Amino acid sequence: MRKPVMAGNWKMNKTRDEALEFIYAVSDKLPSASQLDSIICAPAIILRDLVKRKGDNLKIGAQNVHFAESGAYTGEISPMMLTSTGVEYVILGHSERRAYFNETDETVNLKIKAALANNLKPIVCCGESLEERESNATHDVLDRQINKAFEGIEGKDLENIIIAYEPIWAIGTGKVASAEMADEACGYIRSLIAKLYCPHCAEEIRILYGGSVSTKSVSELMAQPNIDGGLVGGASLKSDSFIELCHKAI
Ligand code: 13P
Repeated sequence: MRKPVMAGNWKMNKTRDEALEFIYAVSDKLPSASQLDSIICAPAIILRDLVKRKGDNLKIGAQNVHFAESGAYTGEISPMMLTSTGVEYVILGHSERRAYFNETDETVNLKIKAALANNLKPIVCCGESLEERESNATHDVLDRQINKAFEGIEGKDLENIIIAYEPIWAIGTGKVASAEMADEACGYIRSLIAKLYCPHCAEEIRILYGGSVSTKSVSELMAQPNIDGGLVGGASLKSDSFIELCHKAI
């Protein structure tokens, strides 16, 4: 049995006060940690504050990390720095980072390795553009992204990795993929993990759907056999709606 996950990706939103207000509002209102992994991935500057103040039923993640241990990379944050704040997760390869910050399949692979080496659990994002979906290239894109992301990653590390399927056309557009479409893509990703590792590994790995998930669409998505949770942007920003998403995910 795969434990469900509800991960909020705040992106570049919330001041320190707003973030703390959210954390206090959700504490004691989330499902227990044995039922669900509830995660908030926040801007780096607020991570330590959130780790210190969060309740037991919430986990904290970052939204990016550099792959080098240290060095002359002005403005970047190393895996060790993230670990030292007490965060558990890090989103890697989000399509916004691929589109605006030159993230590539190669850097995603390097970052996964660096994160794992520093006890951070990667949430690895993949997904196709509208153009790619319309030209029936979705599976090719997922093949390329997943094969490269997992290059050199050992099977024993899979238990610490979550995959998020986020079709770019569904992100922030209000255009949620149909539950069947999302399940088909997540099932395809699972079959790639079976090929790369083993059928049992594919059964065990958790795969999330992301893209306009809301309190209205979450239950149908969660009912799909290949979808283990959500990676949620907009609907994770309000405490009430995040609490509702978490309860509907179990
Ligand atoms: P929205 O839920 O706002 O569409 O964002 C999805 C996303 O990009 C999560 O990483």
